[in-house]
Amino acid sequence: MYITTPIYYVNARPHIGHAYTTIVADVLARHYRLKGEDVFLLTGVDEHGEPVSRAADKLGISEQELVDENAKHFTALSEAIGASPDFFIRTSDARHKVRVQQLLTKLYDKGLVYKDQYEGLYCGGCADFKRERDLVDGECPLHPGPITVENESNWFFKLSAFKDDLKALNETEWLQPKSYRKEVLGLIEGLEDVSLSRASATWGVDVPWDDGQVFYVWFDALLNYLTAPDIAGRDEWPADIQIIGKDILKFHAVLWPALLWALELPLPKALHVHGYLLNRGRKISKSLGNTIDPFSIADDYGKDAVRLALTRDVVYGADGNLDDTDTFARAQQGLADVYGNLVRRVWTLAEKNFSALPPGDIHPLVWQTVEDVPVRVQDAFDAGDVTAAVGCIWDCLKDLNGVVDALAPWKIEDEEELAVVLGSLVEAIACVSVLLSVVCVEGPSKVLDVLSIDASYEQATLSGTTRPWHLPTLEVLYPRRPV
Ligand code: MSP
Repeated sequence: MYITTPIYYVNARPHIGHAYTTIVADVLARHYRLKGEDVFLLTGVDEHGEPVSRAADKLGISEQELVDENAKHFTALSEAIGASPDFFIRTSDARHKVRVQQLLTKLYDKGLVYKDQYEGLYCGGCADFKRERDLVDGECPLHPGPITVENESNWFFKLSAFKDDLKALNETEWLQPKSYRKEVLGLIEGLEDVSLSRASATWGVDVPWDDGQVFYVWFDALLNYLTAPDIAGRDEWPADIQIIGKDILKFHAVLWPALLWALELPLPKALHVHGYLLNRGRKISKSLGNTIDPFSIADDYGKDAVRLALTRDVVYGADGNLDDTDTFARAQQGLADVYGNLVRRVWTLAEKNFSALPPGDIHPLVWQTVEDVPVRVQDAFDAGDVTAAVGCIWDCLKDLNGVVDALAPWKIEDEEELAVVLGSLVEAIACVSVLLSVVCVEGPSKVLDVLSIDASYEQATLSGTTRPWHLPTLEVLYPRRPV
C-alpha cells in the first residue's frame, strides 16, 4: 500500500495546510497498517524552482544552504504532528536528479519533446505559466506580486497528444471526489503542450541533452513519486493513493498521468483531492499572511487535537474554515470530555471494586453500540471517506458515554452484574481505542499499552464475551496543558 503526499516547497516554513495533507495521509496509512498491510508512506520536499533561488538570493546564501536549513522544518513537522512517513524525499538529492534525467531522456528518445520559443506570463510563486484570464487585476490570485513576461527558447512536452486519454481517465473513479471532475475536464478542453525546461533558471536538474537548460520544476517534482521508493530500495510503483490539495489538481490530474503514459508506466490507482483550509474565509497561505503555525498549534492543543480537528471537522475533499484556532481548542476539549472522561469513569469504578475483571457476556447495550462500528469505520476509510470514518469513531465514543449514564454502574450493588457491565465497558474502550489510534497518536496508545493489546483491527472486533481484564493504573489521558 503506497500512499503519497505532495512534496512541499521549502522556500518558506511549513504551515497548517502542509500539516493537513500529511495528517490525512498518515491517518490513511495507519488505517491500512491496522488492516495488516505493508504500507509505504512518502512525503518530502520540492527543493528546486525560482522561489527557492529568490529566497536564497535575498538571504545572501546559496540555494543548497537554504534548502538544507528549511528541509529540517519539514522533517520536524512530521514529528510535531505525530506522522510517521516511511521515507522523506528531497529533490536536491543527487540520486533523485540522476533518475529524473534518465526518465526524462526517455521522452526525448521517444520524440515526445521539441524545442520552441516560449512567450507568455509566468508566476514564480505557483511555478506555473498563466493565461490572462487566470489573473485578477494583472496579478495571480494566490501570489500577489509581479507576474513576469517570459520569452525564451524551451523544450516542450507533447502534452496535447494525450488529450483524449486524459478526458476518458478523468471521467472515471480514479479522481476522488467526483466534484473535481468538471474542473479537470475544463482544463483538458483547451489543453496545450507544456514547457519541459527553463533556460533562465539554473537551480534545478540539468537537461542532459541541452546544456544551459534545467527541467521545469514540476517535471522534476512529480517524478519524486517514482524516484523516492527507488532510492528507499522499495519496489512500489504504482501508488495506491496520491493525496493532493486542489491547488495542484492540474499537475496531478493532467500532466502526471500524461507523463506516466509517455514513460509507459502504470497510473496511480487513486488521486484524492482535498480542499483548502481557510482562515477568516481565505485560503491559508504565506503570501496571504493568514497562516497558522502547525508547531505552535500542536504545542498549545496537542497532536491528538490537531489531528482530530483536521480530519473530523474539515470535510475531506471540501474547503474547511478554521476560525483561527477555535477548531483546535474545541477538539482538545472534546478529547478530554468525551474520550478521557469515558475512560476515567469506567476505570475509577473498576479499580474501586475489582482487582481484575473476569471474562463474561457482553452487555447487550454495549454490544449494540459498538458491534458494527469497526466495520463501518474500515469501510469508510477504504472508500476514502476520512471524515465519515472519524465521525463514526467519535459518535461511538459519545454513545458510550450515554451507555455509562444509562447503565449507571455506580448504582449497581450486585457484584456479578457490576463485573459484566464494567467488563463490557472496558471491552468497548479497548475496541474504540484501537479505532481512535488511527487518528490520534497519544491518548489511545496509553490505553492500549495498559491493556496490553496491539493496535490492529482484529483487536477491535467484539466477540460475544469479554476478555479477562487486569487494569493497571492509567494516567489521565489528556491532562490540562499549561496555557
Ligand atoms: N511543490 C508543489 C507540489 C509538488 S508535488 C509533486 C507545491 N508545494 S506547496 O508547498 O505549495 O504545497 C502544496 C500542498 O500543500 C497542497 O496541494 C496541499 O496539499 C497543501 N496545502 C498548502 N496550503 C493549503 C491550504 N491552505 N489548505 C489545504 N492544503 C494546503 O505545490
